[in-house]
Amino acid sequence: MPSLDEEELFLPSTPGKFKDRSNTMHRQFHRCFASTSTLFLWALFLVALTASYLSFQSFVDSGSRYFSSTWGGIHWEKQVRTSAQVRRANGFSVLVTGAAGFVGTHVSLALKKRGDGVVGIDNFNNYYDPSLKKARKSLLNAQNIFIVEGDINDAQLLAKLFDVVAFTHVMHLAAQAGVRYAIENPHSYVHSNIAGLVTLLEACKTANPQPSIVWASSSSVYGLNEKVPFSESHRTDQPASLYAATKKAGEEITHTYNHIYGLSITGLRFFTVYGPWGRPDMAYFSFTRNILQRKPITVYRGKNRVDLARDFTYIDDIVKGCVASIDTSKKSTGSGGKKRGPAQYRIFNLGNTSPVSVPMMVGILERQLKVKAKKHMVEMPGNGDVPFTHANISLARRELGYKPTTDLQTGLKKFVKWYLSYYGHNHRKSVK
Ligand SMILES: NC(=O)c1ccc[n+]([C@@H]2O[C@H](COP(=O)([O-])OP(=O)(O)OC[C@H]3O[C@@H](n4cnc5c(N)ncnc54)[C@H](O)[C@@H]3O)[C@@H](O)[C@H]2O)c1
Ligand SMILES: *[C@@H]1O[C@H](CO)[C@@H](O)[C@H](O)[C@H]1NC(C)=O
Repeated sequence: MPSLDEEELFLPSTPGKFKDRSNTMHRQFHRCFASTSTLFLWALFLVALTASYLSFQSFVDSGSRYFSSTWGGIHWEKQVRTSAQVRRANGFSVLVTGAAGFVGTHVSLALKKRGDGVVGIDNFNNYYDPSLKKARKSLLNAQNIFIVEGDINDAQLLAKLFDVVAFTHVMHLAAQAGVRYAIENPHSYVHSNIAGLVTLLEACKTANPQPSIVWASSSSVYGLNEKVPFSESHRTDQPASLYAATKKAGEEITHTYNHIYGLSITGLRFFTVYGPWGRPDMAYFSFTRNILQRKPITVYRGKNRVDLARDFTYIDDIVKGCVASIDTSKKSTGSGGKKRGPAQYRIFNLGNTSPVSVPMMVGILERQLKVKAKKHMVEMPGNGDVPFTHANISLARRELGYKPTTDLQTGLKKFVKWYLSYYGHNHRKSVK
């Protein structure tokens, strides 16, 4: 109906009406004059409309920075500057990426505690329950550590941060973690572990002064290696997962930035880190939840019924290794985006050097939770997990004074204590 009505409007209402020719010239002059001035008015109107539209657009653009975006503005800059303030002699100001993550939270707290300035950045993605990340953020806020909500792919944000603070170090822990999730969402690994890393390194190489960088690689780069214990000199060109491949790529990419721009780089290959405020997607965490809820747990077994084993490393030991890496890292040598001399490039294993089989880990949890697990033994599907990990840490011991002191029994006890205080026996908070 409406379309018919509209068509009718454009039909001449009196098609056959006679027109007086004598008046035509006069009328045409009038019409011409009228249409010129109308045209002029219309043009004026359009110019005004365009101008107001453009100024409105720029208002919205700059406004979004202050109203809808999570960063920018005088107040924001002040928070960043205050958080980065150094409170000890010869202290550092450190930008911690992935600060609302498991390791990032602990490292941020340790640095702040000794008087270093810390600014965090995290995108609070929902790979696992973001409310846990928000709770970690509150923990950091209580110690006057400010976390910027943003993505490391946001070059403008990074440039702004380096503009506001002359960071001495970047502790880069933001990443898409987890091995099996790569089957589901491969692009999230490329987004954070490759594209995000390059964006971060670009910001670092441009910054003046350039910061020194310590970042998390992974034991997963050893992939299908069978030579144990894993040493830094062993081959790492047989990754078993996309996650491992992106971490390996990260090692090559950081090497390039070290070589071309003189960035000081330390890569840390973490071995299965666990502890309070840990990651819900990791086995020790989800086993604890399921055992408490009397639900069955799936325990993978390798070929020929060989149990999987991991070199479980307690979070406090990892934190010591991270802090020691910062303390022993040399300055970057570049400036103005150009290399001025060779810069430090290091890679270390940070493990515990005492692998424990997964069924033994379950046994420890059973004793501490005082609940028997309903174990469902399944042959390991070939989706990225490796059968075992075992770190040779003699290089980290020599160069960083790294010496892990917490065995799995002691560490899991601390984890269980935290878990029960945070979730309770019957899971007040939901865990994904
Ligand atoms: N926990 C382990 O066992 C282990 C082992 C080997 C390596 N690692 C590495 O250590 C680092 C820390 O791991 P974790 O266990 O604390 O993991 P996590 O997932 O708890 O922490 C990573 C944090 O980074 C954030 N993040 C992810 N992508 C981001 C992006 N594009 N921009 C901004 N923030 C982003 C996440 O929101 C998360 O809070 C990671 O690089 C991880 O790959 C961890
Ligand atoms: C551990 O690595 C060091 C080199 O960092 C090497 O000298 C040593 O032999 C390795 N130990 C084992 C048990 O493989």
